[in-house]
Amino acid sequence: MFPVKATTGNLLFMIYNGKKLRTIWFDTDENVVKIIDQRYLPFEMVIESITTCDEMCRAITDMYLRGAPLIGVAAAYGVWLALLECANSSNPQEAFRTSMERLSTTRPTAVNLLWAINRVMRAIDGVSDLKERTTITFKLAGEMADEDADICRSIGEHGLTIIENLYRKLGRPIQVLTHCNAGALATVDYGTATSPMYIARERNIPIHVWVDETRPRNQGRLTSWELQQADIDNTVICDNTGGYLMQQGKVDMVIVGTDRVTANGDVANKIGTYLKALAAHDNDIPFYVALPSPTIDWSLEEGVSSIPIEERSPEEVLAIDGDIDGKRSSVRLFSSGIKAKNYGFDITPARLVTGFITEKGICKPNELKTFFGR
Ligand code: MRU
Repeated sequence: MFPVKATTGNLLFMIYNGKKLRTIWFDTDENVVKIIDQRYLPFEMVIESITTCDEMCRAITDMYLRGAPLIGVAAAYGVWLALLECANSSNPQEAFRTSMERLSTTRPTAVNLLWAINRVMRAIDGVSDLKERTTITFKLAGEMADEDADICRSIGEHGLTIIENLYRKLGRPIQVLTHCNAGALATVDYGTATSPMYIARERNIPIHVWVDETRPRNQGRLTSWELQQADIDNTVICDNTGGYLMQQGKVDMVIVGTDRVTANGDVANKIGTYLKALAAHDNDIPFYVALPSPTIDWSLEEGVSSIPIEERSPEEVLAIDGDIDGKRSSVRLFSSGIKAKNYGFDITPARLVTGFITEKGICKPNELKTFFGR
């Protein structure tokens, strides 16, 4: 991978070198897949070229890129890279199989990963010519990226109606709380949970967003940076603050993203989401989940006992990374020998979810199946 570094100095939201930027794209000048390396944000804009399936696997596992919808599109490009590479192998079938095994286990919770790989596999099923398989996959990966941006934009339009209604009722800026980053950086463009916020800004509906810092990886800094670029008023809070704000009447609604929703409406999302849902329920505050349809896992009836929860390195809890005098640095938080557990996600039961904001409209958890014609 070849990082191209640039400062975020005068950067407008997702505009880079005068061009609107997505989180992943195929660079036609250089014939290479490029991604924004989110590990450096919000301090530096680093763009990486991904040239092999192995590099894509590392980019997903080590969270150069992250967020369920983006992981899905990255996986589709990963399949394409694997097909390109296996053409040079003495045993193309075996080489491809090994790459797919690795790609499909890069991150276990976001169902978009398997959804994307399966979709590509279905498209090339029965096509024996390797060149043709490669061409079909490349085209599909690009289509999936465009589709994701369209889905997110629609989620924004539907979610906006909730914010608009609250604004009509309350006649003051709407206070929204969000957890983790379900923004443009977590998708190809727009984001899911943030998309209604961007559209509210476009339409001059005043909002203020409480941004959970989201330990241990602090994705809140991505969300606050994104919102700042879009000129949306926001305030970062520690993960434990939301309940207090809700009791004080300072939160009108919660919107979060999701990594997997099961057929009954249970929601996997970043660790800590469940606690926010409980606090929202206790305070009668609507709790919405922005849900693109590829994130629904119809094969699982419920989530609490069946969604695989990613466990990451304890090091992410024991140390914290940030910027010291313009240099990306890591600082130890605990004395040596201390144990830590690092679950990446939790499950919010369907009963705590007010509604799903999907690209097709808004529905309640118990309406999910009929809403999608299942
Ligand atoms: O571990 P991450 O940063 O990939 O987790 C991301 C989230 O939990 C998001 O809320 C989710 O993927 C939805 S992104 C539109």
